[in-house]
Amino acid sequence: MAISQGFVEELKYRNRIDDVISSYVNLKRAGSNKVGLCPFHSEKTPSFTVFSNTETFKCFGCGAGGDVITFIMRAENLDYISALEFLAKKSGLEMPGETENKSELVKRSRMHEMNREAARYFNKMLYEPCAEAARAYLAKRKLSSSAVKRFGLGFAPQSFDALRKYMHTKGYRDEELREAFLCGKSERTGSYFDYFRGRLIFPIIDNLGNVVGFGGRATDDETKPKYLNTSDTPVFKKSRNLFALNFARTCCEEYIILCEGYMDVIAVNIAGFANAVATLGTALTSEQARIMAKYTKKVVISYDSDEAGQAAAKRAIPLLEEAGLEVSVLKVKDAKDPDEYIKKFGAEKFRALIEGSRGKFDFLCDGVLKRHDLEVPDEKVKAAREICELIADIYSSVERTVYIAKAAEKLGIEAKSLTSDVERIRHKKYREDESAKMRKIISDTSGYGDRVNREMVGNTKAAKAEEAIIGLIMLKPELFAKIKTGELSLSADDFKTSFGRKVFEAIERQEGRADLGMLGAEFSVEEIARISDMQRKRAELAKNDETVLADSINALKKEKNVAQSGDELEDAMKIILSKKNSSK
Ligand code: UTP
Ligand code: MN
Repeated sequence: MAISQGFVEELKYRNRIDDVISSYVNLKRAGSNKVGLCPFHSEKTPSFTVFSNTETFKCFGCGAGGDVITFIMRAENLDYISALEFLAKKSGLEMPGETENKSELVKRSRMHEMNREAARYFNKMLYEPCAEAARAYLAKRKLSSSAVKRFGLGFAPQSFDALRKYMHTKGYRDEELREAFLCGKSERTGSYFDYFRGRLIFPIIDNLGNVVGFGGRATDDETKPKYLNTSDTPVFKKSRNLFALNFARTCCEEYIILCEGYMDVIAVNIAGFANAVATLGTALTSEQARIMAKYTKKVVISYDSDEAGQAAAKRAIPLLEEAGLEVSVLKVKDAKDPDEYIKKFGAEKFRALIEGSRGKFDFLCDGVLKRHDLEVPDEKVKAAREICELIADIYSSVERTVYIAKAAEKLGIEAKSLTSDVERIRHKKYREDESAKMRKIISDTSGYGDRVNREMVGNTKAAKAEEAIIGLIMLKPELFAKIKTGELSLSADDFKTSFGRKVFEAIERQEGRADLGMLGAEFSVEEIARISDMQRKRAELAKNDETVLADSINALKKEKNVAQSGDELEDAMKIILSKKNSSK
């Protein structure tokens, strides 16, 4: 990565962390820091903290943390380079010139351009004779020409090289096309071939208006698979994009309609709702939930009415709620999906459906009632128990009371007895939560379940020493000079965990000026949060000088040697031997 330290410093200087975060979070002063409600998870009391002195942030609730660049990566759902671009634009700074910073940026914008060119080609092909069947299919699905225009739909001819030949004339090479999943490469013969053949094309457009990928539908109902999709590329992550969010984002303050498929989104749009999106051939992810939460307050799940669709809705609910979204679920009756519903009953009926969409509780409650025959006493007891479990999960006691009344009516059981069952379940859950919290505290301190540094477990002493060393160098870059000159002897090989080693090597490459902003290019946002913690934890301690660094280095070397000297048996032997010697 050719982004220079100087550029990142200037960028961070112009984008003070308090100022940037203030436009996302309502910050209140708390001592020398500022606190607010975390934008990355839902909470009622503020645990999100901005440290002005180190220009970092940390949420003590969900663990998110880092510098202003990491914040933008998370808040705007951008990768490192795009976050730099975002901040540069915001502060009137030019991104480093092409020569200085060729590889990544140029490659990305070239891939965007290439995708746009391919989208243009597909769209043009839709009006050619070879697309007759495709046009007939569109007509059969009642997709108007204005919908085709709006979504930029296209057609990939039934050919192994039509797109490739066209893209060659535009100066794109096979290898680039393969990287963007516009063509594939045969492992056996090494030859390239168009990836989408004989398919209707749905371009996927990101928030910034870039064409980032494609979905391709067969033009009949026999061809398998029904859809082919672009896999993840340097400019496209399925789990972080939503189909049609480019339209929905500007008109969804009130709610977003979440559909299962491309066709549903388009049908819902034609019916007059531009606030519809769909996932891209996968189950909803928490990243997608958080993206929606940036634009709206509420999500109306509008999945297929079959069992698979309803099960998917049930799985989506907790993800959406975790992102702070209100959820309701559409009940599509006598049609398999929203698309079919609109075709059968019209846009007005669909609107009524949305207005009457059931709250999460009603949806889940109906699911339980459907599974049990209330005429059978045993079954009724089971249904009541499941519904009490559902109600017990509700935070607000007012809401619990309302739902208990509703459930009592549906079940034909007295509200009083449901209430006492619900309270019993709540107490049990509370106790379980408490012991889970305890277990987490214990496992955190011993390093179990550490996803950033998996080698923490069993190496806690070494890992703690490594964290101290890295934290110190970050806090006082001048200490790194002592290592460089050899005054303090420490090399990457002295590190015991590969994460610690990787961080140290990155710091070495930056000549000891270990700025989080530079590390962001090589580490994930979770890793940056951890590295930022190392610095913050050191900063909280009173003594941070060369002697502490020397002690930590010694501690690390000692730990490293312990392991290198062999296994437990050998260690035990040593102890026995030393005892023998001392008793002599
Ligand atoms: P559906 O089968 O419901 O497709 O799959 P659809 O969009 O409603 O299309 P029609 O109405 O049948 O023509 C829902 C979504 O799942 C993904 C696509 O994103 C699709 O829109 N999918 C489905 C695939 O990725 N591959 C497949 O083979 C099928
Ligand atoms: Mn469908």
